[in-house]
Amino acid sequence: MAPTALRPLQTIFKIVSSLGLCLASLTQHKPCHAADIPSLLDISISELALLLESGELTSRALTQLYVDRIHDVNDDLHAVIEINPDAIAIASDLDRQRAAGHASGPLFGIPILVKDNYATHDRMLTGAGSVCLAPVPATLEATVVTRLRQAGAIILGKANADEFSGSRGFNVTGGWSARGGQTYGAYVEKQTPCGSSSGSGVAASLGLAAAALGTETAGSITCPAAYNNVVGIKPSVGTTSRHGVVPVTLRQDTTGPLAQSIADAALLLDVMAGVDPLDNYTSAQPWDSPPSFTAALNLSALQGKRLGMVRVASSQLALLDGVNKNETEAVLNATRRHLEVAGAEVVDVALFPDPESALTLIEWVFGNMSVYGLPDFRDGLGAYIDTIPAGAGTVHDLETLVECVKSDPRELASVYSYDSLTQTLDNDTLPAGSSEVWEAYLTASGATRGLVAGLLEQHQVDALVLVSDLAYLLGASAGLPIVTVPMGALGEDAQTARDPTNTTVQTAPGMPLGLSFMADKWSDVELVSYGYAYEQVSRKREQLKPYLKPRHDLDSVLRPRAVDARQL
Ligand SMILES: *[C@@H]1O[C@H](CO)[C@@H](O)[C@H](O)[C@H]1NC(C)=O
Ligand SMILES: *[C@@H]1O[C@H](CO)[C@@H](O)[C@H](O)[C@H]1NC(C)=O
Ligand SMILES: *[C@@H]1O[C@H](CO)[C@@H](O)[C@H](O)[C@H]1NC(C)=O
Ligand SMILES: *[C@@H]1O[C@H](CO)[C@@H](O)[C@H](O)[C@H]1NC(C)=O
Ligand SMILES: *[C@@H]1O[C@H](CO)[C@@H](O)[C@H](O)[C@H]1NC(C)=O
Ligand SMILES: *[C@@H]1O[C@H](CO)[C@@H](O)[C@H](O)[C@H]1NC(C)=O
Ligand SMILES: *[C@@H]1O[C@H](CO)[C@@H](O)[C@H](O)[C@H]1NC(C)=O
Ligand SMILES: *[C@@H]1O[C@H](CO)[C@@H](O)[C@H](O)[C@H]1NC(C)=O
Repeated sequence: MAPTALRPLQTIFKIVSSLGLCLASLTQHKPCHAADIPSLLDISISELALLLESGELTSRALTQLYVDRIHDVNDDLHAVIEINPDAIAIASDLDRQRAAGHASGPLFGIPILVKDNYATHDRMLTGAGSVCLAPVPATLEATVVTRLRQAGAIILGKANADEFSGSRGFNVTGGWSARGGQTYGAYVEKQTPCGSSSGSGVAASLGLAAAALGTETAGSITCPAAYNNVVGIKPSVGTTSRHGVVPVTLRQDTTGPLAQSIADAALLLDVMAGVDPLDNYTSAQPWDSPPSFTAALNLSALQGKRLGMVRVASSQLALLDGVNKNETEAVLNATRRHLEVAGAEVVDVALFPDPESALTLIEWVFGNMSVYGLPDFRDGLGAYIDTIPAGAGTVHDLETLVECVKSDPRELASVYSYDSLTQTLDNDTLPAGSSEVWEAYLTASGATRGLVAGLLEQHQVDALVLVSDLAYLLGASAGLPIVTVPMGALGEDAQTARDPTNTTVQTAPGMPLGLSFMADKWSDVELVSYGYAYEQVSRKREQLKPYLKPRHDLDSVLRPRAVDARQL
């Protein structure tokens, strides 16, 4: 496509140098080499937007490239369930709109994937991983998906995810769903992608789309972000709408991006965040309109800030007492220098004064979570099932859902349990609005929010920094925001361990790790700015290479001569 206007030379140089593209051809009339062309493994959305705007690249070619990349790796990794059959046509239409001068904003013509629990009003299915939940396309669309479409983003497809966002049964392997099979991460062979936004993490990491949406109830963005060497942002519950997302518990569910960089994630969040009349939790936002996430991308954001690096004695928390605890702590310790270079003062913060109080608190929090989690899941899933057209499929309520999961061979009921689904049928479960349920919620959310707020106050720190596996436990019940950034990988001394079913590698040398920033509710923008300052100093993502990469890349569509000055 021809560029719409000639650009001043300064702009050309800005484009070329920001892309790291073939400056030699402009200044010395030398031919470019393929190595000068950026890869979809690390190009930013802003850079893609510049290429689209300059006419070097069309959305159609970019979309086709992502489709080809999905095909390159999906037989091995099962990161994507379904590709939008209309994606190429939508991209062509957006190219025509751009040619007519109607392109607007950095997401215009940019393909993104969404987790399979986001309802999309198109020809794709929405199953939260379950074939039973998806007899026909959804009759509604998630508000954040609609917002992204309105910003010009292309909904490229559905990313694989733990079935029912991990709330199907106790022994389902992380990353597995009936609709998508077993997702694997790309850094260690057969590695767990973590869940439940597993395919979103893998897809964002390998550039199978420009970014991906995930959801978190307890760890489902934070953990796959860490394990797949990408940024994951779990907004405060209420910052982004959950309307049109198959729920687990609305008290905890939140929608957010997984992306190669904080800047890419911020572009998506700027579109996603805001009040939605269809999700009343968004009415609790403390802002007139949400602050800009992209405006918070400030290299100096950590200057003069104090961070509390959270320490857990190994005896304190059985959940975290993994085989590679020391190795993980060594990587965490190494982030200290980067945080300090970015301008922060880092102080050590002990999570609990004594081991007993730690175990008791975690036990109580999980106990209380189950009291409200089950009624919420029952009511929320039931309400979603009510949106399935009466004539479609066999699932019309929770009973017929359990029946379908039990009998449809694709749901592998003999391999993976579905006890959490069965429990929704218990006739003695409390109503979600009962005082016992509210009390359990207030207990769990109050204890964890009080703990986090207490640490911030007691140590006079602006945010906590901690390993992702701990952050999500502390942030789940109270809906606290968490920003996770790549921080490196387990070293050669790490041991290898597989999950109980021996399907996936849980931990091993080379396994990516994430540094999480967390603070009190509604501190989303501050955390994004801290994450950005750390990311820009540490640059850990680019230092870790996947063992498996898609074969198709920009070099097949961006010819080196394309950056000749005359064509720009
Ligand atoms: C949203 O509505 C639910 C159910 O009516 C209510 O319990 C909850 O407090 C409301 N939340 C907000 C933030 O208004
Ligand atoms: C960036 O952050 C620094 C330190 O907090 C602040 O002084 C400066 O005004 C910020 N810059 C912008 C453009 O917001
Ligand atoms: C972890 O390191 C501590 C000292 O730094 C050592 O005492 C302990 O044995 C190590 N544990 C493992 C499992 O390597
Ligand atoms: C990490 O640093 C803390 C002190 O800040 C120290 O106690 C601990 O031994 C270190 N752990 C490793 C594995 O280096
Ligand atoms: C909920 O937390 C309280 C402590 O605040 C505890 O006494 C109670 O046992 C917990 N409930 C469950 C079901 O674990
Ligand atoms: C999961 O639990 C079910 C029901 O108890 C059992 O039949 C199945 O073998 C278990 N599967 C795995 C992979 O452990
Ligand atoms: C609840 O289910 C049990 C069996 O699962 C049954 O015996 C009991 O009558 C049921 N109670 C009500 C109130 O329906
Ligand atoms: C687990 O799987 C690996 C790789 O397939 C295999 O080498 C190993 O023997 C298995 N371990 C067990 C306990 O079955």
